[in-house]
Amino acid sequence: MVDTWHLVFDHYDPASEKLREALCTVGNGYFACRGAAPEVSANQTHYPGTYIAGLFNRLTDVIAGTTISNESLVNITNWLPLNFRAGESGRWFDIDRTDVLEYRQDLDMQRAVLERIVKVRDESGRITKLIQRRFVSMDSPHVAALQVTIRPENWSGSLEVRSALDGGIRNDLVERYRDLSSVHLSSVETTFLTHDSVLIEAQTSESRIRIAVASRTQVRHDHNAESAEYRPFRTSAEIGHIISVPVTAGQEVTFDKVVTVFTGRDNACGSPSVAAARWLPRQGSFRALLGKHTTAWKRLWEQFGIDVDGDERTQRVIRLHLLHVLQTLSPHVADLDVGVPARGLHGEAYRGHIFWDDLFVFPVLNLRLPALTAALSRYRYRRLPEARHAAFVAGYQGAMFPWQSGSDGREESQTLHLNPRSGRWNVDASQRAHHVGLAIAYNVWQYYQATADHEFLADYGAEILVEIARFWASRTEFDTTRQRFVIRGVIGPDEFHSGYPEAPYDGIDNNAYTNVLTAWTLRKAGESLSLISAQSRAELFAALHIDEGEIARWDHISRRIFVPFHDGVICQFERYETLRELDWGQYRSRHGDIQRLDRILEAEGEDVNSYQASKQADVLMLFYLFSSSELLEVFSHLGYQVTPDIIPRTIEYYLPRTSHGSTLSAAVHAWVLARSRRSHTKDFYSDLLDADLTDIQGGTTSEGIHLAAMAGSVDILQRCFSGLELRDDRIILNPCYPESLGTVQFGLRYRGSRLTVRAKGTTVEVCSAPGPGLPVRIDCNGATADLPPGSCEVFAL
Ligand code: BGC
Repeated sequence: MVDTWHLVFDHYDPASEKLREALCTVGNGYFACRGAAPEVSANQTHYPGTYIAGLFNRLTDVIAGTTISNESLVNITNWLPLNFRAGESGRWFDIDRTDVLEYRQDLDMQRAVLERIVKVRDESGRITKLIQRRFVSMDSPHVAALQVTIRPENWSGSLEVRSALDGGIRNDLVERYRDLSSVHLSSVETTFLTHDSVLIEAQTSESRIRIAVASRTQVRHDHNAESAEYRPFRTSAEIGHIISVPVTAGQEVTFDKVVTVFTGRDNACGSPSVAAARWLPRQGSFRALLGKHTTAWKRLWEQFGIDVDGDERTQRVIRLHLLHVLQTLSPHVADLDVGVPARGLHGEAYRGHIFWDDLFVFPVLNLRLPALTAALSRYRYRRLPEARHAAFVAGYQGAMFPWQSGSDGREESQTLHLNPRSGRWNVDASQRAHHVGLAIAYNVWQYYQATADHEFLADYGAEILVEIARFWASRTEFDTTRQRFVIRGVIGPDEFHSGYPEAPYDGIDNNAYTNVLTAWTLRKAGESLSLISAQSRAELFAALHIDEGEIARWDHISRRIFVPFHDGVICQFERYETLRELDWGQYRSRHGDIQRLDRILEAEGEDVNSYQASKQADVLMLFYLFSSSELLEVFSHLGYQVTPDIIPRTIEYYLPRTSHGSTLSAAVHAWVLARSRRSHTKDFYSDLLDADLTDIQGGTTSEGIHLAAMAGSVDILQRCFSGLELRDDRIILNPCYPESLGTVQFGLRYRGSRLTVRAKGTTVEVCSAPGPGLPVRIDCNGATADLPPGSCEVFAL
């Protein structure tokens, strides 16, 4: 039987250590720490990394004659260092240079505690057992703790332990970025606070954010606690203590290291170093802190847990995925100015940037912790002025949100990128992926559907929708031949197509996904203004200079946007069908893994833009975001008479032309095939479950988990298999769970009601918890029920 609450590695494997570090990250949304061993420094095998949400710094380089600046999520002072040796002359423990007799690493997902048990024998035959445990407190966002228990198995004498903070840190994880600057921490100042505690304060070099980390290391020794001797030491960037303890074979000594972390961006904090130093002595023992941390997680699992009783593998991976989603986006984040980082707080890939991935993450949060999605949308709201400026500079109206976003919301996409296969730096046109704004609009609307939060809509949501609608209205041009509006020069969700073969970086025209979402957004912007109070509407009209004419124009455009079709399918973009067909079989047999076909082709002097080859779901995104009935309505509003059979035809067309070079692709494909091609869904869902666990992209997970794919796998259980839609002030269900999952049960929050959904196959029971509140209207297969608090209803297809 699989223990579905534990991720266990039962032997040491240097080759997969960095992957395990990412998978064993522990965090609380405010900060997170990779599962690197406490005794290691960054090298080929290990990479300790601790990241604070939203803490960025910018560095500049000259590459191929071009000046480029990159803003990165900063790897802060390493708080983990804690190592041992036997006697003053012994060698410090180094797992890569010792006989490992026993090894077990265990991520306890229920409590978010990482444990590592190692038994080693040194060159003199001394055998020592180590038990290391750590957590980043979900109870107190500024606190983390590490406990190391050491037992000399067959030797006695003096045990030396070196416990330190290390401020000599770089952002060095991602090999592709190694030619670029990586030192973000400057003015590292070290301070001894008390006989057992130290502090490092550093400042980021450009954003000048001060970061303070304080640590206290206490010894627990059943026999002789007071005999521990602390010798302070400091180097240019490190500070700590060497602690000597007399030990006897078979007796354990435990070291408890507790840390506090504060920055100049924090709420309720005057000075980070003062806060770290003041809060450190207020922390209780490791045990007491662990107790509170465990209670906080218990509460979270009550809200977020999904029980799958028929499939242990799915159950375990879903827990792992939820754990990492919550360690990145916990309730503590509701208080912060941060977005959804594509790779979690688990590594340095994509430099911690925020893309459109919230589109895949919001549905999980909307239905459980809507206050958090509201806060994440305010991250976008605060960056509206920057997005308005970007639109203005580009010659458009409204707000043009950046494809990659960091601290201040300017475009952070790189302009050059390295193809590791060819060693060449190539132009990167990804800032043309303006569709990110459409995802933001979709998210605002979905949040409103889940919560009916009129205040949010009036204060933030409608303004975001209006400015995005304005941008897209100004982005359209009227094509007199077609008598329709067109949108030229964009990049759609499929990043392989940054242009046409003759102009590879100029974008493509009439990306179906972008055009359809534009039509939808223009309508929702108008609708949002009719949902808020007359006074809020009048205020917004005045503040944003909206008039009825503008709304009428959005409506007009929303009915007349061009969507390309070819051979009875929706065309990914205009002229896609004229591109060359790729010999997929030949490329697969030559290269095996062709997920990054763009890099393979570029290294061979070719250009993926020339081929009908997509990195990830693009047109198919439409079937992911809209149910077939909603999509047909959108098309009919556009004046296109399409019938439902266009959906399977379109899926069949793109399926063999997609390399799935993004983990998001598996999420979308599993979703869109769920009802028509069960066996395919199973394969894609299986890939999605494996995406990070087995690192299906061959090396990317070690640089950070794929947060959207993780959330996407959860969403397939909660919304796709249940057919759950939030539309027209009701919940629509259309259950169709694979029998192999057994019974699937989860909780939801919908417009103030707490619901429990229990589903098996095509039957679903929904219960509403007792309490105040209005009945929830639920539609299933033609049946409608108004479910009052304290009642249950069973629906079946
Ligand atoms: C995908 C994007 C995604 C980004 C960050 C890329 O590989 O193509 O769709 O937003 O990763 O996750």
